[in-house]
Amino acid sequence: MFYKSLSKVLIFCVLATSAVFVSCINPDENVVPWVEVRVRINTLDAKYIDLQSDGGRIVIKNEGYGNNGIIVYRLSESIFNAYDCTCTYEVSDTCAVTLDEGNIAGAVCPVCGSKFELVNCGMPTSGKARHSLKSYRVSYNEPYLRIFN
Ligand code: FES
Repeated sequence: MFYKSLSKVLIFCVLATSAVFVSCINPDENVVPWVEVRVRINTLDAKYIDLQSDGGRIVIKNEGYGNNGIIVYRLSESIFNAYDCTCTYEVSDTCAVTLDEGNIAGAVCPVCGSKFELVNCGMPTSGKARHSLKSYRVSYNEPYLRIFN
């Protein structure tokens, strides 16, 4: 009896401290081809220090389609968005968006100039791109962040 109650409490604690977020599901999901993504980072690691505050963002290199990278954006204390860096104007392994230095919640393609919102499901806001950035699932169990398909 005691162990049964204890296991219920443990299950509740695990569910309460971790959450899976599919914050962005959009009809543009298949513009960028599927590649397996399984990334786990420790947000306390010094190289991810920008994720310590809301609005923080980083680029994880050599992941996602064509190894173009994945942008992670911290929306709030427990909500993160993750996007494939592949520019959706002309999908290739040579067209990767970067963090927009002129917009802390934006990404920009350095070749075609398309701009995307990181708070708004990677939606394009200007330029030639008409499709949102591809998003990935994220689960956060402090301090570990998992990004996956
Ligand atoms: S797509 Fe080739 S540049 Fe944005």
